[in-house]
Amino acid sequence: MYEPILVLFWMVGLTYFIFLGDNILGGISTSTQMRTRKKIYEIVRKHAPHAKTFYDLGCSKGTLTLTIKKLLPHLTIYGFDNSKWRIVLAKTKAIILNKPIFFVYQDIFEINVQKADVVFIYLPRELLPRLEKKLLAELSLGAIVITNTGFFPNWKPITTHITHPNKEAYQKLFVYLKS
Ligand SMILES: C[S@@+](CC[C@H](N)C(=O)[O-])C[C@H]1O[C@@H](n2cnc3c(N)ncnc32)[C@H](O)[C@@H]1O
Repeated sequence: MYEPILVLFWMVGLTYFIFLGDNILGGISTSTQMRTRKKIYEIVRKHAPHAKTFYDLGCSKGTLTLTIKKLLPHLTIYGFDNSKWRIVLAKTKAIILNKPIFFVYQDIFEINVQKADVVFIYLPRELLPRLEKKLLAELSLGAIVITNTGFFPNWKPITTHITHPNKEAYQKLFVYLKS
């Protein structure tokens, strides 16, 4: 009689433990919201219709990449994060949801982005000046970069998208073209 309650209790406890463990071991992370993820899908379709490869630099637990894989299954998707724990969680979710995504435990400044057609970034603002230089040096012509909330200091976006009209700066997207 009490079994369903016990199962529920354990599930809530496990979820809490995973969430707490993530924030203790990897630092606080915020995911790109569903409304913003759908806008990213539209941007990729419009500005990079022939894209084959999508990189999420700082993928956390893979929430964004899993949605993109669902909406654009033909893309080869890579998620990079410097938190081992988050990469383990992302890989586990991808296996459970049967979504083939490459999750890699690595510092984003150590990878080469030359093969990326689309790069997505939702990172602390202080990393963006250094990332701007790296991306401009390495990306192939025609590649696009989408940043969430933060923007590059010098590179001019080709378009911007407000995803929450009541809070314009919140999860605003900036789209850049390597030309
Ligand atoms: C705000 S979360 C973004 C999650 C995901 N991209 C999304 O939009 O839902 C930022 C993630 O970047 C990771 N990160 C921060 N600096 C990094 C670095 N130098 N190399 C790799 N990952 C980094 C953090 O561990 C965190 O999981």
